[in-house]
Amino acid sequence: MELPVIVLGGGGHAKVLLDILRLMGVKVAGISLVEPTVDKLYGYPVIGDDTDVLERYPAREFMLVNAVGSIGPAVGRRDVYEQFRARGYRFASVIHPSAIIASDSLIGEGAQIMAGAIIQPGCQIGDNVIINTKASIDHDVIVGHHVHVAVGATIAGCVRIDEGAFIGAGSTIIQNVSIGTNSLVGAGAVVIRDVRAGATVLGVPAKEG
Ligand SMILES: CC(C)(COP(=O)(O)OP(=O)(O)OC[C@H]1O[C@@H](n2cnc3c(N)ncnc32)[C@H](O)[C@@H]1OP(=O)(O)O)[C@@H](O)C(=O)NCCC(=O)NCCS
Repeated sequence: MELPVIVLGGGGHAKVLLDILRLMGVKVAGISLVEPTVDKLYGYPVIGDDTDVLERYPAREFMLVNAVGSIGPAVGRRDVYEQFRARGYRFASVIHPSAIIASDSLIGEGAQIMAGAIIQPGCQIGDNVIINTKASIDHDVIVGHHVHVAVGATIAGCVRIDEGAFIGAGSTIIQNVSIGTNSLVGAGAVVIRDVRAGATVLGVPAKEG
């Protein structure tokens, strides 16, 4: 990555991303916060809020990293991504060196693949997706834009996860299942049937709750 990056957001997700950026050897120009009340965070300069990014850090000279987390459908995270993309900014992909990614997998813009994650052959990972710590994505899985697969989730082969869905920590999705747009799979659920768009499913086996 030739351009320095600006990290948008300063919560726990930012902390993890900054550690990966350091391991990747990426230069971090600073962090943008909604309320920039400090000068430094995690050892990096706070450069202001999103308006300061637009005014002082042109898209041709900086890339962005979306550090807005998401638990549930990724509304805020998606808005940040789409608003900056519409102004010509590009989002850097952040991939932990310990992630295992099959060589034929397609990884979208700004995807974030955390420590110990595994992506097997034939997968497509959309833009602005999080594949979180130790999540496992088996062969031929399609992951739509803005999806968050949370820590330790296990996705079996040929699953389809549509745009904006949230797959909870430690959940399991069996093979060939489709997960609808903006749906939410609760932590620890075992999904054995398709999930409707916008639905929340919980438990073992997972049911709408
Ligand atoms: C499903 C979820 C969003 C519900 O959150 P909530 O709306 O705040 O729900 P509450 O905690 O008020 O619980 C409501 C009911 O659902 C049950 N429940 C909540 N989460 C559940 C889960 N994952 N599986 C089974 N039951 C669950 C609660 O026990 C409670 O039942 P009760 O009414 O009989 O007491 C949340 O519990 C969850 O699983 N979030 C995912 C977190 C995650 O994966 N984080 C990873 C970050 S990387």
